[in-house]
Amino acid sequence: MQQTQSYITANKEKFLDELMDLLKIPSVSADPAYSEDVHKTAQFVGDKLKDAGADKVQLFQTAGYPVVYGEKIIDESLPTILVYGHYDVQPADPIELWDSPPFEPVIKKTAVHPDGAIFARGACDDKGQMYMHVKAFQAMMANDELPCNVKFMIEGEEEVGSENLGIFCNKYAEMLSCDVVLLSDTSIIANDVPSITIGLRGLSYVEVEVVGPNRDLHSGVYGGAVGNPVNILCEMISQLKDENNAITIPGFYDDVEVISETDRTKMNAAPFDLDHYQKDLDIDTVDGEVGYTVLEQTSIRPTLDVNGMWGGYIGEGAKTVLPSKANAKISMRLVPNQEPDKITALFKEYFESLAPKSVKVTVTPHHGGMPAVTPTDTVEYQAASLAMKQTYGKDPIPQRSGGSIPIVALFEEVFGVKSVLLGFGLNSDAIHSPNEHYGLFNYYKGIETIPYFYQHYARLKKA
Ligand code: BES
Ligand code: MN
Ligand code: MN
Repeated sequence: MQQTQSYITANKEKFLDELMDLLKIPSVSADPAYSEDVHKTAQFVGDKLKDAGADKVQLFQTAGYPVVYGEKIIDESLPTILVYGHYDVQPADPIELWDSPPFEPVIKKTAVHPDGAIFARGACDDKGQMYMHVKAFQAMMANDELPCNVKFMIEGEEEVGSENLGIFCNKYAEMLSCDVVLLSDTSIIANDVPSITIGLRGLSYVEVEVVGPNRDLHSGVYGGAVGNPVNILCEMISQLKDENNAITIPGFYDDVEVISETDRTKMNAAPFDLDHYQKDLDIDTVDGEVGYTVLEQTSIRPTLDVNGMWGGYIGEGAKTVLPSKANAKISMRLVPNQEPDKITALFKEYFESLAPKSVKVTVTPHHGGMPAVTPTDTVEYQAASLAMKQTYGKDPIPQRSGGSIPIVALFEEVFGVKSVLLGFGLNSDAIHSPNEHYGLFNYYKGIETIPYFYQHYARLKKA
């Protein structure tokens, strides 16, 4: 891989310029106003795959946004890596909190990224990380050093639940057949503490509505007698957790996988500085489930969080009103072996039971997702570990992540293969947040590490 690595070094600037161009296209999948741009982004990715040397590049239309496909089969007898990534991004809101426009990428130095980081929506999640794979592939192709077969499947609907990708995978399972799925859409512990993600949480997501009187009322004339849906919603939500921050929904923890003391001790040996964590967030103390460390609370324990809540008057000044209804969006992060549909049903039953007679409650489920865990005693993990050791100079730490990539569980189901979550972002990169960024160090480190993964995987898989 020597020539490949020299090629990467020689093309650093070009690789960065291209990523900047990719980040300029606002591919927000959640908002139909960006539809044209999302399609344009798919085209961009397809073109770059072709330029890099992929065959059979095609934009597969779905009921939503296209899936970009491309492949390079050098020898049917060699193993095949299926690279997954997503070209869609989260909405940029709240836009006023960005220091620079979200779709006008700029490079700035930060304390965590002294070599500079690229600031733009999607820089880390996932355009920057996905594009590393296109460039690593290009580098191997240009130097005749591709050691195995590769297929690319880059989707545009990850941030809205990947529903059409699930259909696509089932429909084209034969075309997509592979030995392993490789993706970079997660984080490492720190730039000097490499890690490999071996678990993702699942997700159950609901929207609730509490309706009281048939119209907004004068809060003086009616206030005191009529149940206020905003007050009531707050009371209901406050009953979803007890004084230990444990979730009170009956049956919620029934299927939660019990982790042995030995494994918990091992998990907690990973570097983590609580003081630094709190300072970074400007909080005096964390406030998680009693009996678990922060590392555990954000990986092996399920959660329940209000993601947004509205109702009544939220404009300038004071308006005296007793609102007719109140709403909230609530997410529950799940761990093995919790089932999203079962959890959603348990939530609905319990939440409805909390409602006083003065209001009517509706619970609407949104997309969910299964958790995923990957073992470490496999050729796949070994190859990833060796690759990172080569570029970081130390063994990566296996770690479960708190985030969700629902499609990963489906890959195992449909293709019968394991996924390797070879992410390079940092938790502090502000994904889904204003001022999202991705370190140049991380971008280049990713491009350098990926070819080594190919090399080790191809070698170990044959052995
Ligand atoms: N790349 C993230 C997931 C992630 C981030 C995993 C950091 C591990 C570390 C992905 O794009 C994402 O945002 N997933 C959503 C779920 C989806 C159904 C919208 C999430 O985790 O909220
Ligand atoms: Mn992502
Ligand atoms: Mn995301």
